Amino acid sequence: MTGKTRSIVILTGAGISAESGLGTFRDKDGLWTKYDLSEVATPEGFSRNPVLVHDFYNARRKNLIEALPNAAHAALARLEQSWEGDFLLVTQNVDDLHERAGSKRVLHMHGELRKARCGMCEHVCAWDGDMGIATACPSCGIRQAMRPHVVWFGEMPLYMDEIYAALDSCDLFLSIGTSGQVYPAAGFVAELRRAGRAHTVELNLERSDGHTLFAEGRYGPATQVVPDYVEELLRRL
Ligand code: OAD
Repeated sequence: MTGKTRSIVILTGAGISAESGLGTFRDKDGLWTKYDLSEVATPEGFSRNPVLVHDFYNARRKNLIEALPNAAHAALARLEQSWEGDFLLVTQNVDDLHERAGSKRVLHMHGELRKARCGMCEHVCAWDGDMGIATACPSCGIRQAMRPHVVWFGEMPLYMDEIYAALDSCDLFLSIGTSGQVYPAAGFVAELRRAGRAHTVELNLERSDGHTLFAEGRYGPATQVVPDYVEELLRRL
């Protein structure tokens, strides 16, 4: 990294929560090796079989509530607290482990599992219990329209204007625990590389398919490489 870093954007994926006991998607034993993505993570799958989709997310929500943030989540919260420049944590994760570790400036581009949304009135609210086809919207009262507040394949990710604005002005981009297979997040590093202003670092268990797009890579479990990298950054402040 050269010069003084003023603005950081961090992208996280399922790998940062793996050591908290939440499964990743594409690793051996990942969720998409056990479930058909088109059945449980698309609007069409939800229309075809809402019971199956609710059961899938009810089980994931239960796991999430029992999980705890790990040392990698804690390190990113520490970095945010100590950082005086611009800071944005963009996560593809629907878990809330960043917030529970103390992160404040977090955007969930793929939504949040501990929230529900009404497909009729668009009301969004906190949701920790199970959800089913007879669940009524607490705002409009309509049944059969409540769904997890998560982004399914074929739907628009959230907060994209804010995310691109932060990417436009960032000079350090960290990509942590993501395979880089799902767009638009997978395209962030290529766009930054074209613009040529930000230093880009991949921190992952292993090299992702797109690792050559990054200027630097740190490889190993997130609970080791993320705290180590954060300490390094903070020492340079
Ligand atoms: P993936 O399952 O595709 O990738 C997880 C990445 O984490 C892999 O590159 C692993 O090598 C890495 N990994 C695993 N364990 C790790 C550990 N302990 N420490 C560090 N890295 C580790 O998950 P995502 O890239 O997050 O979207 O997937 C992106 C999106 O695809 C998800 O948000 C989800 C999914 O389908 C939707 O559901 C819309």
